[in-house]
Amino acid sequence: MDYKKIIAELLNKEIDLDLETIEKLIEIPPKPELGDYAFPCFQLAKTFRKAPNMIAEELIVKLNKDGFEKIINVGPYVNFFVDKSVFTKNAIKKILKEGDEYGSSNIGEGKTICVEYSSPNIAKPFHVGHLFTTAIGNSLYKLFKKEGYEVQGLNHLGDWGTQFGKLISAYKRWGNEEALEENAINELLRIYVKFHEEAEKNEALEDEARAYFKALEDRDEEATALWKRFRDLSLKEFERIYDIFNVKFDSYAGEAFYNDKMDEVVRELKDKGLLVESNGAQVVMLDEYNMPPCIVLKADGASIYATRDLAAAIYRKKTYNFYKSIYVVGLPQSLHFKQVFKVLELAGHEWAKDCIHVGFGTVKSATGKMSTRKGEMILLDELINEAIEKSLEVINEKNPKLENKEEVAKKIGIGSILFTYLKNSREKDIIFDWKEILSFDGETGPYVQYSYARANSILDRAGEIKGEADYSKLTSKEEFELVKTLESFENQIHLATEKLEPSVITRYAIQVAKDFNKFYNSHSVLNLEDEELKIARINLVKSTCQVIKNALALLGIEVVEKM
Ligand code: ARG
Repeated sequence: MDYKKIIAELLNKEIDLDLETIEKLIEIPPKPELGDYAFPCFQLAKTFRKAPNMIAEELIVKLNKDGFEKIINVGPYVNFFVDKSVFTKNAIKKILKEGDEYGSSNIGEGKTICVEYSSPNIAKPFHVGHLFTTAIGNSLYKLFKKEGYEVQGLNHLGDWGTQFGKLISAYKRWGNEEALEENAINELLRIYVKFHEEAEKNEALEDEARAYFKALEDRDEEATALWKRFRDLSLKEFERIYDIFNVKFDSYAGEAFYNDKMDEVVRELKDKGLLVESNGAQVVMLDEYNMPPCIVLKADGASIYATRDLAAAIYRKKTYNFYKSIYVVGLPQSLHFKQVFKVLELAGHEWAKDCIHVGFGTVKSATGKMSTRKGEMILLDELINEAIEKSLEVINEKNPKLENKEEVAKKIGIGSILFTYLKNSREKDIIFDWKEILSFDGETGPYVQYSYARANSILDRAGEIKGEADYSKLTSKEEFELVKTLESFENQIHLATEKLEPSVITRYAIQVAKDFNKFYNSHSVLNLEDEELKIARINLVKSTCQVIKNALALLGIEVVEKM
């Protein structure tokens, strides 16, 4: 039931504004005393040549009140009170009928969205910041799918650059085969650090590394085989993390993939007269736009990070013909993306406006910046293990007899991490604080999961239902507030994709849990004489479970039936 549409159609018969404009003007009043929807009449004052409150007064007489309990005016607003029993019945029936599909829409039909996320660097640790982009991107992916878009999840691996020359040189000098097999990233990090230490004493090393990178660029067999090995082994490690969080990609085309696609970009920029020389490098000047020049070719003729991004953007447009192309990358790279998008625009690609950088803040622990002493790889594993362990502790305390505790702890622990990442607007920094993350009564993953399990246990006890519900008996404030929240799910999804903010859904999940707990704390569900009311309440609980499950799924979090 889209009440905004219904109200817009009603008003449209009486006033000279189109449906879309009216729909946009309709507000949700801040207090229930002001109804469920309100239409402000300010905009009509000119055409009607009357004061807004007089217009509102006249409108309420003319409007057809079917499906509404009442329509009144409060000052310059027309306030709509929907017929609660009709609303409740429609909402619950829709949720139960659509099940896992509830919340879906088809506004994205026929359009493709590229979402690039995660994009870690080969031979480097996957750090807590990479988990941030992974969590956001994974959620945006699911949100767009829910709106009917075709979505491409892209992992733009950092698998090219001069550092690979250093790695090859270091590996040939100090590499340890066994250590590489056992923990590739640790070993590659070790020799990379060693390379820099040694290079300070021995200048020839840098030349050697340059030569290896050149060999790599020239597709030398040995260099390529080593590069591929480093890449495969690193990817295996990343995939271990993706498996833990159940994250998938449609493509792992990383920076190296664009090697043979950059000449064309450079030629295009040259032909369009955009390239100029600056200290030997080829750059696109952007001072007119208050930005430093975008370097396309270094003085030695080598391409760089930005060149690969230009090639990647063009490739994505050609390959996917995207409607939007999204880059989930930390805020420190804002300028880089502004430059890249500007260069694309200057080169005449009108679709540059459809490229969007979705930035996010940094991650800190409650005691200061996350320590990197032991290497951030360990830190990420530590984070995961600690979340699971601590969840297990809580379960042991709350429900020691629970079956498959380990599995439940894993879902709660992983969920609590994702929830923490996605709880606030993405541009805010995150402060990891275990007490808060795993608390069962704060605005946390475990709180929402616990509410789900609590609701689910009511359904378990209810057993099979026979008979019909009478939704007109769900008359309390708590019931109606919960129903309204459940009904607004699809709207919340649209809001989340419009703002590119998974936190809209995280907040929403918290709201559903809060509304449910308020309802359940003041109304009994199973202990009722009135069978019609009982079934109506059971169905309300069932709907709540379904919506929490669907909302958490959009964040990449799985529910647990019992905890
Ligand atoms: N690999 C980079 C890093 O870890 C992020 C890549 C971002 N994506 C892009 N298209 N430039 O910092």
